Amino acid sequence: MKMILRLIVSLVFVIACVVFTFSYWQARQEEVRLKNELERRASIIADSLKLSVEPLLPAEDRKYLQRIVDKFSNRERLVGIAVDDIQGHPVLASLGLKPKLKEYPKVLAHNIQEVERLNTEYGEFISFGKDSLHAYSVPLASNEKTTHVLTLFHDVAFIQERVHRIWINSFWRALVQALLITLTTTFVIYLNVMKPIKKTTEWIKKIRRGESPEKLDSKNEQLLGPLAREITKMAKSLEKARISAEEEARLRYATESQWTSDRLKEFVREKLHGKNLFVVSNREPYMHIKKGNGIECIIPASGLVTAIEPILKACGGTWIAQGNGSADRETVDKDDKLQVPPEEPQYVLRRIWIEKELDDGFYSGFSNEGIWPLCHIAHTRPIFRENDWEAYQKVNKKFAAAVLEEIKGIDEPNILIQDYHFALLPSMIKAVRPDTRVAIFWHIPWPNPESFGICPWRQEVLKGMLGADLIGFHTQFHCNNFIETVDRFLESRIDYEHFTVNREGQTSWIKPFPISIDFNSANNYPAGAAETKETLLKKYNIQAELIGLGVDRLDYTKGIVERFRAVELFLERYPLYRGQFTFIELAAPSRTIITKYKEFVDEVVRESERINARFKNKGWQPIHLLMKHHSHAAIAPFYRYADLCLVTSLHDGMNLVAKEYIAARQDGAGTLILSQFTGASRELKDAFIVNPYDVGQVAEAIRAALEMPLPEQRDKMLRMRAVLKDKNIYRWASMLIGELAGVRVEKA
Ligand code: G6P
Repeated sequence: MKMILRLIVSLVFVIACVVFTFSYWQARQEEVRLKNELERRASIIADSLKLSVEPLLPAEDRKYLQRIVDKFSNRERLVGIAVDDIQGHPVLASLGLKPKLKEYPKVLAHNIQEVERLNTEYGEFISFGKDSLHAYSVPLASNEKTTHVLTLFHDVAFIQERVHRIWINSFWRALVQALLITLTTTFVIYLNVMKPIKKTTEWIKKIRRGESPEKLDSKNEQLLGPLAREITKMAKSLEKARISAEEEARLRYATESQWTSDRLKEFVREKLHGKNLFVVSNREPYMHIKKGNGIECIIPASGLVTAIEPILKACGGTWIAQGNGSADRETVDKDDKLQVPPEEPQYVLRRIWIEKELDDGFYSGFSNEGIWPLCHIAHTRPIFRENDWEAYQKVNKKFAAAVLEEIKGIDEPNILIQDYHFALLPSMIKAVRPDTRVAIFWHIPWPNPESFGICPWRQEVLKGMLGADLIGFHTQFHCNNFIETVDRFLESRIDYEHFTVNREGQTSWIKPFPISIDFNSANNYPAGAAETKETLLKKYNIQAELIGLGVDRLDYTKGIVERFRAVELFLERYPLYRGQFTFIELAAPSRTIITKYKEFVDEVVRESERINARFKNKGWQPIHLLMKHHSHAAIAPFYRYADLCLVTSLHDGMNLVAKEYIAARQDGAGTLILSQFTGASRELKDAFIVNPYDVGQVAEAIRAALEMPLPEQRDKMLRMRAVLKDKNIYRWASMLIGELAGVRVEKA
């Protein structure tokens, strides 16, 4: 678009220059022509008048002279005629001129002087205030001696008018030309350049995705033929490489090597017999938001999104989620769908629209003021409202309808439901389609029966979940809590040997699946990232030699305030680190319409300001709280250069920040301080495992982490990296999908 604009501006500029030059030339020519013509006319009139007037001068018959002069003076554009003696004294003047003569004495005097000097006729164009005149004087002789001068005044305004008209006409001509050229250029470029490029780009994309598109059409061949031929060759080699990679993955899968996206793809294809996966979550993986005049696509801060996205990228399928970005509706097709990731589409995102009032009850209310604090033991009291519960049921129903629509006509479809927003969805789907294979993965902790028991709709929630064939948690501990909760509140048959619950003929398997990340992609520092520690700190105006890092959604379960207090205590106990060590908190605002979250943000800001005020000195401050949505690319250099990462959740299902930090440390340096109340602490045993409530312990861990010799850091980091390389998200998905695929369901 910019290119077209540039082209149009250049064309319009050139047209404007050409039109201006020609108009100037034409106007000048016309002006000269009209002036010459006027001069010629003045000369003819003056000569014939001279013949009439000259013989009458000696007789001094003024009356007769006046009549002649008046008779001549009504010619076109003639303002008047004056006769003066050679000393400049007026003798007579035509009627219309008399009042004006007072204004022209200078002109007359000048013309009379020139006539006397040259002893011949003399003409001149002059401007008088608003008037433009031509004064033409001829000598009148008596006895061969010039005694008088006759002057004709012509109005020349018509010349300026004519010139003016030429400019106006040229302007309109130029405008119309510019308009026509703009339209034609845009049309021609669109038709002959943009459209073929767009089509060719689509064609290349298809090749990249491994689809075999039809041949590039002949029109596009003309313009982009050589390019297309080269790409076709490239595509063939790519296809070969892809086949051998898949083959390799197949072999690796057979020999139980590391899980990769290719291997998962192969595995899923085999297990699901080529059928598509359906994923349901509240949070969408790509959110479109309005920014200035444009639309920006962002990846929301969500552990769930971080984990699930690589799976859909590998296996394809449909992800059904709530659309709530300000530009989400503008970016879907008529079926509320779009292909994502935007830069390289690999699966379908179907957006569901929930009205604000319903979402307030469903999302802010029952999900995040009810279940979230109920499942996280972080000492925030859950709030249960009847209205919220109703909204929760309605939204679950709405999603159920969407899922049923998507799976229509598909035999034994596989559905992966995500998280606490959809506890009722499994049974709603199963009730209509008993042939579906349904798994629900609970991304947050499951509390003990006593804690869970305070939920007024505990039975309904449990019954809803038990519609699933497979119920997944991060840890065995959460599975145990769940089974005990079911045992406490529902009539059912529990098999502790296989960890299954049977209720009304439906069997649900309860299993731990510790979720993870795409290690290889998190391991890859983004291309073009020439950032050094110095440039990074400079960019954010941070003065520090040693960096501690926290990356969180602003959530009260994350232990951010406790973390700040640990930093404070550390600086109090070890003053040598003041001016050297800085803690950077990359905090993404989250669930900001909920009062508890608003209060929490205020508390975090207050604490950081209090601690900064206590220690800050000469441009250095202990805490930098960077509160905004940070993209993966923006977080990556912080992971890379942080000497330590602090994950101090008060309770957390897994916590993927801890895993991302480790994956980003290709250099093997850096240390992780990890809360014992995270699921991640079960796997990352080489981290400093701390109790976030014990501020003193965390402060000591900070010191120990900063002072740990590099070889020791490397030992620990490499061990943790090895764990994550192995237990990556593809392994997680293979376990979950493998289990689900093994479920026997009723035939449709
Ligand atoms: C946790 C939940 C996810 C949720 C994420 C972000 O990780 O388990 O389901 O998407 O927080 O929260 P939000 O409310 O912004 O989706």
